[in-house]
Amino acid sequence: MCGIVAYLGNKAAEPIVINGLKRLEYRGYDSTGIAYFDDQSMHTHKTKGKVSDLEEVLAQHPKHHSTVAMGHTRWATHGVPNNVNAHPQTSNSGNLVIVHNGIIENYASLKKELQHRGFQFQSDTDTEVLVNLIEDVQQQKGIKLGKAVQVALSQVIGAYAIVVFDRRKPNELVAARLGSPLAIGLGEEEFFVASDATPFLEYTKNVIYLEEEHLAIIRRGKKIKVHKIKDDSQITPYIEELQMSLENIQKGGYDHFMLKEIFEQPKAIQDTLRGRLLSNEGVITLSSLREHDNRFLGAKRIIIVACGTSWHAGLVAEYLFEEFIRIPVEVEYASEFRYRDPILYPDDVVIAISQSGETADTIAAINIAKEKGAFVYGICNVVGSTISRITDTGCYTHAGPEIGVASTKAFTTQITVIALIGLYLGKAKGTLSRSAYQAYVTELENIPQKVERILTSQAFIETVAQSFEAAQNCIYLGRGYNFPVALEGALKLKEISYIHAEGYPAAEMKHGPIALIDKEMPVVVIATKKGHYEKVVSNIQEIKSREGRIIAIVSEGDTQVKELADYCLEIPESSEAFAPLLTTIPLQLLSYYIAVQRGCNVDQPRNLAKSVTVE
Ligand code: AGP
Repeated sequence: MCGIVAYLGNKAAEPIVINGLKRLEYRGYDSTGIAYFDDQSMHTHKTKGKVSDLEEVLAQHPKHHSTVAMGHTRWATHGVPNNVNAHPQTSNSGNLVIVHNGIIENYASLKKELQHRGFQFQSDTDTEVLVNLIEDVQQQKGIKLGKAVQVALSQVIGAYAIVVFDRRKPNELVAARLGSPLAIGLGEEEFFVASDATPFLEYTKNVIYLEEEHLAIIRRGKKIKVHKIKDDSQITPYIEELQMSLENIQKGGYDHFMLKEIFEQPKAIQDTLRGRLLSNEGVITLSSLREHDNRFLGAKRIIIVACGTSWHAGLVAEYLFEEFIRIPVEVEYASEFRYRDPILYPDDVVIAISQSGETADTIAAINIAKEKGAFVYGICNVVGSTISRITDTGCYTHAGPEIGVASTKAFTTQITVIALIGLYLGKAKGTLSRSAYQAYVTELENIPQKVERILTSQAFIETVAQSFEAAQNCIYLGRGYNFPVALEGALKLKEISYIHAEGYPAAEMKHGPIALIDKEMPVVVIATKKGHYEKVVSNIQEIKSREGRIIAIVSEGDTQVKELADYCLEIPESSEAFAPLLTTIPLQLLSYYIAVQRGCNVDQPRNLAKSVTVE
C-alpha cells in the first residue's frame, strides 16, 4: 500500500523524508518521489523503482536546505508504475502538489468535468484528478488551501489520505483522511505527517492519529488546526504519546505480518469491491469484462491456471462459475499445464490467478495458452506485474501488499473477484435469475462485516490451537465449495507449522484415508449448514467412532455437530457459494496459532519464498 511522509519545520527536510520513506518500504511499492520548496520554487523528483533509485536521482541535483518537503512510495492502483504516475502529483498551474494513499472511485467523472473546464492531465492517476479538483475549487471560489481541500473532498467518493502543499504559501501543509491512515508528529517547532508513526519515531513521540473525515491545517510556528471535512467545524485533536517500537508499528501492533493481514481482510475485501459492486444500483461493473464480454459470453469452457493458494481459489471458481454461468471449468496446476501440450479451442477463455503476478509456472502457462491463440484474463494483486502485463486483460485484487509468505488476504480477495465475475456473467447470460443475482449482490456486500465477526473469535481459536501444537499429522475435510477450503486450510498448516496436513473431499474418507484415523489424528471438518450438511455429519460420526479428534467449522447456532466434535469454531450463515470467504478465516487463525506455539517463523517459513519466480 502507498506510503506518505511530509515535513515542515526547521531542519533539512529531504533527509527526513527520504529516511521516512525507507521506514515505510515494508508496505510494498513500485515507484517513489519527493517534492520540496526551495529558493521560491517547487522541485519534484520521481522515479519508478525504489527509494535508493530516488536518492540517485537527487544526487544529480544541487544540494539544498529546504525545510518543507513531501514524499511518497506508490503501490499502483490506477495507472502502471512509472515516473509520470509516481507521486507527488502537481496541479496544472504548478502551484499545488499532492501525495495520496487510497482510491478515488468517482475520479473518471471528476476528470471529465475538469477537462471540460480546460484542465489537462499527464498521468493515469486518480491523484492528479484530486489535486486539480482542489485547484479548480481554489480558483473558482478564491479561498485558502485548507478550505479548498475541504470543499473538494466533499465531492469525492472513495478512500484517501493526502498531504497538499501550495508553493504560494510555503509555511503550510494541509492533510486529510478518509479510509486510509495518517499520523501527525508534533515536534519542537516542527511537524511530521506520515502513513504511520515509523518515519518520525526518533524525532517525537507526540502523535495525532487523524480521525476519519478530518482535515488538518499545519502552519510553521502555529498550533495545528483540525476540522471535520463534512461541516468544516473545528475540533480539539487528541495527542497520544507513542509507546510502540518501530517494528511493532510496521506490523500495526500485531506480532506478525500474517496476523495483521488476516485482520486486514474485511478492508481488503471492501477495497476489492469498491467501485465494482455499486450496491445502491445493485450493479456489478467490471470494465475488463465489459470490454471483452463477447469473449466470455461466447466461451464454451474456462480453463484456470495457477499455483498454491491461487490454485485453491481457482477450484472455488470452478464451483462458482459452473453454478452461476453454467459453462464447464477446468482448473490446472500451471506447472502441469505448461508441459502437457494442452488442447485449447478458439472459444476457450483462460484465467490466470496470481497474487504476485510473477510466478514462473503461471507465466509459462499463460505464454503457452497465448501461443495456442487463447484469450487470457488475469487476476493479480500487484499492479504492473508481469502477469498483469502479458494477459489480454484482467482485474486487480486490491488487497494491498501481502508481506507474509502464507497467502491469506490474497485468497479471500481472489475469491471476491471470482464472485464479481460470476455475478456479472451470470446476469449477462441470464443463467442467474434476477432475484438470485440481487440476493447474492446484497450478501457479497455484507461479507466484510461477517469476516469481522469471525475475527472476534481469535482468542478462542488460540486456545483450541494449544491442543494441536504437538500433532504430527492432520486431515482437513470439506464438501462442495468447502473442499477447496479444506485444501487451503491444510496448505496453511503445513507451510507455517511444518505439520503434515492433507485436504480431502469429506466423502473421500472411506476410499482410504479413514485408515489413518486414530486418537493421534486431528481432523478439521468444515460442516456449515449449507453444503451437504447431513452427509458431512455422518462423515464426522465415522471419524468419531474411530476416536479421531475433531475440530469442526460450523454455522452459528449449530447444535448437532457440537454433540460430536471436540471443538466447534462458529461462523455466520452464508450461501454455499460465498462460504469459502468465511470458512477459511478460522483455518487461517488456527494454523497461525499452532505455528506460533511451535515457535515457527510464521512470516518467513523455512524453504519458502513469497513469490516463486523460478521453476
Ligand atoms: C500460499 O500460502 C503460498 N504463498 C503459495 O502457495 C502461493 O500461493 C503460490 O506460490 C502462488 O503464488 P502467486 O499467487 O503469487 O502466483
